[in-house]
Amino acid sequence: MVNMPPEVRETLEKQWPIPFATASSDGKPNVVFMGILKIKDDETLVFANNFFNKTAANLAENPRASVVCWTKDPRRSYQIKGTVTFADEGPTFEEMAESVRARKADLQMRRAVIFKVEEVYEANSGPSAGERIA
Ligand SMILES: Cc1cc2nc3c(=O)[nH]c(=O)nc-3n(C[C@H](O)[C@H](O)[C@H](O)COP(=O)(O)O)c2cc1C
Repeated sequence: MVNMPPEVRETLEKQWPIPFATASSDGKPNVVFMGILKIKDDETLVFANNFFNKTAANLAENPRASVVCWTKDPRRSYQIKGTVTFADEGPTFEEMAESVRARKADLQMRRAVIFKVEEVYEANSGPSAGERIA
């Protein structure tokens, strides 16, 4: 696990929707948009599985995922890679389910998606593009 530097967290906080990429065990990629994110701490992101289909199938056989974020001003972009587990009950599940209900009262969250940050890369255009920063 690694901690996101403050500028990465700030950039991710402003990203909407958040591209969320997974891959099957044989390497077939898939990317979706995620609208709901809670940054629990500098190494833990929590998403809501409300509609996962191929994403759920991929994560069942390969728990690794990646997100990317960007802001125009200041001009920053980062790739974040990590490993996903799920919560079907307990405080993290309840907190996320409440957040989903607050946005759409009749939407029933399926599972809380807990993303542990393992690698962070610079992704802005420029000489350090692609370099690992955490
Ligand atoms: C703006 C936007 C926000 C979305 N937010 C979520 C979300 O927070 N949770 C979720 O499960 N699906 C969300 N979706 C739906 C997924 O992007 C996607 O349709 C779903 O996971 C099915 O695709 P899949 O078969 O690749 O998993 C959102 C879609 C859009 C366009």
